[in-house]
Amino acid sequence: MNRAIRILRDEHRSLSAVLHGLRHLAKASQDAHARPRFEVFRAMIRYIDEFPERLHHPKEDAYLFERLAARAPETAALIEALRAEHLESAQRVRRLERALDEYERCWPLWSGPFVSVVEDYAEFHRRHMQREELELLPAAERALTAEDWRAIEAAFAGNEDPIADLREQDLAQLYTRIVSMAPAPIGVGARWDKAPG
Ligand SMILES: [Fe+2]
Ligand SMILES: [Fe+2]
Repeated sequence: MNRAIRILRDEHRSLSAVLHGLRHLAKASQDAHARPRFEVFRAMIRYIDEFPERLHHPKEDAYLFERLAARAPETAALIEALRAEHLESAQRVRRLERALDEYERCWPLWSGPFVSVVEDYAEFHRRHMQREELELLPAAERALTAEDWRAIEAAFAGNEDPIADLREQDLAQLYTRIVSMAPAPIGVGARWDKAPG
């Protein structure tokens, strides 16, 4: 497996970890007698919004999809569908944010709708990543040349984008904050029944 593919797969794992945490805590909040710390949900949703938008999708859209479309026209329909899902993903995050606002305003009511919007988003993204890993990346491995991969890896390393490193650091900090705030088994934060308001 080349470095560019490893980076994309690693990014999928990071996003999956936060999605798993969000699903777990959303469900747990239905049984809890304590008020959830809504800022944990907010930080997770911010990560789910910014990680793909700022770090991950640009790598796919601008570099990998672009080159693959040129080398393997038979992948055009797949690439078009994945690009459309990138746009849809941003709209779905807005739905998540609205559901969280409602939940916070109406707690302890409205946990059911929040959980179902979370489940919906997680399933949408799981299917998207699975399609990339099972269809797109194998097609790219077959069609792209060593020269293509060198160019893609250089672009992924941020050589053409001076603020890529800053974005990466920002998101790493946000990830650390999520882990420090979320209660076990997701993170190391205080339990919600002991947390303030
Ligand atoms: Fe994608
Ligand atoms: Fe992806």
